[in-house]
Amino acid sequence: MTQTADPATTFRPDLLRGKHALITGGGSGINLGIAQSFAAHGCAVTILGRNLEKAQKAAAGIVEVGGQALGVSADVRDFAALQAAVALAVAAHGDFDIVLAGAAGNFPAPVDGISPNGFKTVVDIDLLGTYNTIKAAAPHIKAPGGNVLSISAYGVPVPMQAHVVAAKAGVDALTRTLAVEWGLRGIRVNAIIPGPIDGTEGMARLAPDEKTRSQFTRTVPLGRFGLPQDIANAALFLVSDAASYVTGVILPVDGGQNMLGGAPQYQMFLQMTQ
Ligand code: COA
Repeated sequence: MTQTADPATTFRPDLLRGKHALITGGGSGINLGIAQSFAAHGCAVTILGRNLEKAQKAAAGIVEVGGQALGVSADVRDFAALQAAVALAVAAHGDFDIVLAGAAGNFPAPVDGISPNGFKTVVDIDLLGTYNTIKAAAPHIKAPGGNVLSISAYGVPVPMQAHVVAAKAGVDALTRTLAVEWGLRGIRVNAIIPGPIDGTEGMARLAPDEKTRSQFTRTVPLGRFGLPQDIANAALFLVSDAASYVTGVILPVDGGQNMLGGAPQYQMFLQMTQ
């Protein structure tokens, strides 16, 4: 039997009432799902994206259904732009209870097929962008009580993704170190590792046809793709008081895929290249 979470029955809808979250990369995909769930639980959300129109459209969608949301723009590689966006967010909804560093850049490429600038581009967005986001928001993260949550990736070899797994290994190290440094301030710092999540731009690129989709689901012990709501539910838990004694955790939300190590990714790589 396939089980999926029903947000209507999983939580009472006020877990984050009166709070404010900054969500980078919130214009689409997993991060938009998280923004919508946070908003549905009473949280004002500032959606930050590279494309202002996209961020504002995502925010408008949340306002339309009764939530509080603002769209702002910055490239997470640009610290000054992030500081300006943070100032707009704080002026609108006050200091942050939650900072979700979700913005990421990715493309599948083998180490042989990526230039030094290509590798640097992904590290700049995924690792430095996460650091820049947290650093720019830091003066406005409530303490005690604040939460930082990042989106990470498997710490296993993933062919065609060396640039991403290298950057995300840094995100994990940053998460654990900050959890220690900010523990006494009462700020919790955690990360989520999403498994294959359906309906996202990344998955559309990695599994463009039915054959690849079915190969993907066979790499997951639960036998299905995840949904953005699965990630949003885990994020809700980690930033809510239900997780008040949880910090420095890198939580896989992946149908159990991580238990298989890098083997499924290697098998898919062999099928694609031989
Ligand atoms: N394979 C190999 N190298 C690639 C590549 C690919 N598919 N796509 C980009 N690069 C390289 C470029 O060649 C360039 O290196 P070069 O200057 O040596 O040629 C470098 O990466 C920067 O590319 P550019 O397009 O200028 O970067 P950007 O800052 O405009 O965008 C991304 C970077 C990652 C955001 C962009 O590739 C992208 O839009 N990806 C898809 C969207 C996305 O990542 N969504 C998030 C899903 S998790």
